[in-house]
Amino acid sequence: MARELIEWDQGLGGRGLPEPPPEPKRVAQERPQERRQEPHAPVAAPPKGDETARLTVLAESAASCTECGLHTGRNRSVFARGSHTADIVFVGEGPGYHEDQEGSPFVGKAGQLLDKMIAAMGEGAGEVYICNVVKCRPPDNRTPTADEAGACKPFLAGQLEIVAPRVIVALGRCAAEHLGCLDEDARGWRGRWSTYEGIPVMPTYHPAFLLRSPNMKRPVWEDLQEVLRRLGKEPPRRGRSG
Ligand code: URA
Repeated sequence: MARELIEWDQGLGGRGLPEPPPEPKRVAQERPQERRQEPHAPVAAPPKGDETARLTVLAESAASCTECGLHTGRNRSVFARGSHTADIVFVGEGPGYHEDQEGSPFVGKAGQLLDKMIAAMGEGAGEVYICNVVKCRPPDNRTPTADEAGACKPFLAGQLEIVAPRVIVALGRCAAEHLGCLDEDARGWRGRWSTYEGIPVMPTYHPAFLLRSPNMKRPVWEDLQEVLRRLGKEPPRRGRSG
């Protein structure tokens, strides 16, 4: 915990620590087998109460989806990682190269920063669930189009309905937009509570943006503190001043 806070603090202007030991290898969860089946073939929906099975069916459906052009460049679909009983769901934009290779979201550099952000939130964050607006990698990591995001929306909506978190964190403008956080002029969207299907949503900057603009870590930390307070948790005190 102390290490995560100091590492996070390093980005806020502190000196930080020497290089940490390599992080343990992540194990992708709910990674569906890529297998051929008729797109959107009728499947017997598992009953409510069996969330793991319901998410598995959804993930398998995403793995065989051909609803938009992104499927043609897909190596693996990228559904989610984390716990289906999480209080917090983090929603990013879409898989990048590493995610497409591994079939798990946020496993590249931005994902490593996201993991540090979550670790810095401390035990109050509990287990989390991490997914994206689109489940297939957009070419050259471009932002998904409205049509692509719309085609993928049933998967995201299904995930949020099944996991039913207490808070959603929208990572970046794309996730904020597709979770309904942007108002008419779409300015100043970060850090303003909104709701998605009755669930509070905190839109904040994407970790990939923070890698390019580390001075923006401070407002993101404030947003994450807000999230903890919304859950009735006291945010951890940071290791250094600032
Ligand atoms: N960026 C995202 O938005 N999602 C990922 O899974 C990885 C990088």
